[in-house]
Amino acid sequence: MSEDYTLSAARLLDAASEFGTPLYVYNEARIKAQCRAVIRLFNGLPVNWLYAIKANDNPFIMQLIRSEGIGFDTVSYEEVLLSKSFTTNPTEIFYTENSMSDAEMDAAIQEGVILNIGSIKRLERFFQHPESKTCCIRINPAIGDGHHAKVNTGDPESKFGIRIGLIGEAVALAKTYGKRINGIHAHIGSGIKDPENLIAAMKVLLELSREFPDLEFINFGGGMPTPYRDSDNAFDMKRFAELASPMLHKDLERRPEDFRYYFEPGRWFVAQAGYLLTRVQTIKDQIETTYLGTDTGMHHLMRPIIYDAWHRVVNLNSFNEAGDRLYTVSGNICESGDILAFDRMMPEAKMNDVLAICDAGAYGMTMASQYNRRALPAEVLLTEGGGTKLIRPGKSARQTVNRFLEDCGFNLP
Ligand code: LLP
Repeated sequence: MSEDYTLSAARLLDAASEFGTPLYVYNEARIKAQCRAVIRLFNGLPVNWLYAIKANDNPFIMQLIRSEGIGFDTVSYEEVLLSKSFTTNPTEIFYTENSMSDAEMDAAIQEGVILNIGSIKRLERFFQHPESKTCCIRINPAIGDGHHAKVNTGDPESKFGIRIGLIGEAVALAKTYGKRINGIHAHIGSGIKDPENLIAAMKVLLELSREFPDLEFINFGGGMPTPYRDSDNAFDMKRFAELASPMLHKDLERRPEDFRYYFEPGRWFVAQAGYLLTRVQTIKDQIETTYLGTDTGMHHLMRPIIYDAWHRVVNLNSFNEAGDRLYTVSGNICESGDILAFDRMMPEAKMNDVLAICDAGAYGMTMASQYNRRALPAEVLLTEGGGTKLIRPGKSARQTVNRFLEDCGFNLP
């Protein structure tokens, strides 16, 4: 993308002053730009975009993305219910199950959403349901990718998808029960490193699709990466569409009218739009390491600790000064591993400086927890018009503890 949607340090500092820290801040203009960058990419092709809400399910963000004409990709019955608040058309909701229970399956059937089934056992259960008609199946294409082994879902040994060797069985089951598999799906992983892998998996699906007599759509999943380091190449969506379009045009020739294709990225829409703002609470020299201790941590942004993920950290109080100090940015959780960023060259920091942990819009707040019984951060949307909208108020320590006691049904004597 050519335009720079980076929020100014002044706007971020204002938000930190107004709402306090820790605080998640999202840039509305950036999210809209990401939506608009994909929506018309595949001109002349019936390509639909879904937003994988696990990346960021703040209702205001979901509403914003929905208003750009994008449906929802969900992976739990809870996410289905949440998505239903934003659309009355259940076929705009795609539900990729993973160890779904019978109760969840019954409920999903009642909701009328597109159900994507990832195992033969579950498929049989679905076909046995008196009210089931059609479903999609998730195929493991034996091509995986991802920014970390933990998010590579197309690896042949990963827990996801029906392996290619069992496809015949899936088709036979549908026949036995007189029901239809009307869609096929694959998602090879998150933060795909080599776009060729995505293209290769698409080819696998297009080829396998010949084995399904009742097909109405193919979903190629998400996983489009966004840059975190300056040296990361941005995923070139235009180039990707140029490579994929001829394949889809050719495929469409043998398809019935109304046939459609889907993509379902999450990170792509929101990662770069989000910042986690935090204040420096202590500065500590150990023998070789200088820590900047913050008022957030692994409970609010788990990515560094789970995936060794690298997020840019900017000191907003000195953002245009050269970095001549080496800092390790640590959190306030009682674990030595609670480090947000190791060994960063930054300008000299002062107590109370505001740090922006960048590219935190995806898999930040949705993965946050209340470990150490900490409060969750508030969330704010900086609007296109220059306004500031509180989209999830924070709770005080007292409110957090009271809510916890209440949720446990524990009444203080
Ligand atoms: N579709 C399915 C079936 C998925 O499982 C996922 C992500 C997506 C779509 C969206 O993937 P995306 O476009 O956002 O890469 N917590 C990890 C990422 C986990 C992704 C899980 N599935 C992280 O912080 O990097």
